[in-house]
Amino acid sequence: MDAQDGGSNLLFWFVGFGILITIILRTERSESDLRHIPTPGYRGHLRSYIDAFKFAFLGPTLIQTAYQKYRPGPVRFATLHRWIVVMTGAQLFEEFRKLSEEEVSLTALVGDSDFPLYHAGHDQIIGTKNVQEFSCYLTQNLSLVFPRIREEVSISLKGLSLKASGWTEVEATQLVLQLVTAVNHRVIFGLTSIENEEFNSLGLTTMKQILASRYSLIFDFLPQLRSSVFAYFTQARQSQRRYHTTISAFVSSRISDTKTLSSDRVPHDLLSWTLSGGSSNLLEGSANALSNLTLSVSESISTSFLHVLYYLSANPKYASLMRKEVEASVSKEGWNKSSVDKMHRLDSFIKESLRLNCVNSVSSVRKVLTDLRLSDGTVLPFGSVLCLPSSSQHLSSDIYGSNSTTFDGFRFSRLQEQHYADYEPHDPGTNIALPRYQLATSSSSYLTWGYGRHACPGRFYASMVMKLVLAMILVEFDIRFLEGVRPDDVVCNGARRMPGKEVKILIRRR
Ligand code: HEM
Repeated sequence: MDAQDGGSNLLFWFVGFGILITIILRTERSESDLRHIPTPGYRGHLRSYIDAFKFAFLGPTLIQTAYQKYRPGPVRFATLHRWIVVMTGAQLFEEFRKLSEEEVSLTALVGDSDFPLYHAGHDQIIGTKNVQEFSCYLTQNLSLVFPRIREEVSISLKGLSLKASGWTEVEATQLVLQLVTAVNHRVIFGLTSIENEEFNSLGLTTMKQILASRYSLIFDFLPQLRSSVFAYFTQARQSQRRYHTTISAFVSSRISDTKTLSSDRVPHDLLSWTLSGGSSNLLEGSANALSNLTLSVSESISTSFLHVLYYLSANPKYASLMRKEVEASVSKEGWNKSSVDKMHRLDSFIKESLRLNCVNSVSSVRKVLTDLRLSDGTVLPFGSVLCLPSSSQHLSSDIYGSNSTTFDGFRFSRLQEQHYADYEPHDPGTNIALPRYQLATSSSSYLTWGYGRHACPGRFYASMVMKLVLAMILVEFDIRFLEGVRPDDVVCNGARRMPGKEVKILIRRR
């Protein structure tokens, strides 16, 4: 190497380093002045990137330690994109709940490169025009869609290729995605997985690729523009575009079919409701809106349900007790929404699974739209980002007692039974669920669905799907892990907690 080569190499590194520093200094992280808020790590801008890398891998643990040290009060963490302020303590939670849309916003974060990190599964629907109406439709029509969900789960379970006797090893993600995608295709487009194998398999492939991409760190390390350019060429995005095109064609053919069908023959699904003018302006762009909704809903429910399935496989002793509850409820009322509503142990089991392993270690992320003064005098300047510590709140022994870190599948159903025994011992109506112990309830101590005015509007649908799928699996199958141990979650960029990847479970027909 001659002196000239050495010189140009040096220049290359110098310019490269300069560009890197510029990018770092230009991130949103350098904008809001949050130096007055305590942080467990370095306070300086450049050195805080060391903490940001630590946070990417150890986020839940770092938040948990800080939660114990700084509660009650706000505490800030350096992430690769910005500082985030985590609120802790009952008083700040209450203040958070009351904040107006003029003070903080969920949708102001849409489009920021770290938005998917905090809303994996929802990043393509939050802030979109029709999604609130879709969620309302699903919530209001739970009884109507119930038989279709049941039929679809039944078809999918029958279609599993398992050994005639004994245990078969299956990939848990494949099983769950298959069930959940089929259910959502049926509810949203009226498509059964048998009639539309091709459509279903495209949906399944797309879902698998999207889910796989959620385990990756790479895009979150890149600045915004480059991350979106790279993302455009990923397999997940390519499949998603094919999926959109297929759905657009399907919607067009439904529009022409509907014109010739008598009203009693129009299928009952979200698409028909949309086309019949279920709400103003839904028709325009409905194919894209519905395909995004299907993928988002399938991802959120599948990721959560995987956590549930892992707990069941690691703790098969719960199966027989839940199975008894399912059989008793169904023998009285048959399979319907009301009988599933009365499966309190099942409800409790899912709620407990998502308490210990909710998909985001921080929840209810908001951008501050004004200089916000908290009751303790702390000012959160315009543009800063705040959130709630879901994982730490869920592990708090003040809320969940001395066994707060242990899985106790019937924790919530026992509390409900206890309530009835203490306060209404002669009331035989213990089948009435108390909202405070129910899966679909959002509260300051249960943040799986977020908190406050933006708490998830799809949680009633999601809860019913998860309960019904679990009930039907319990009735027809035994499930367990080969080694009996639940796999660890994969922490992605501090905030996202994905269920263990490529995990095998053993399953056999009963
Ligand atoms: C197990 C599955 C699901 C989980 C864990 C989940 C969780 C969440 C969370 C944590 C939020 C943010 C709340 C906040 O910021 O305070 C949210 C918002 C939202 N979810 Fe879900 N969700 C699920 C399923 C669904 C389904 C099935 C739908 C639609 C049918 C849906 C529609 C929405 C919408 C539209 C928002 C934004 C609400 C707003 O802007 O006010 N979600 N969800």
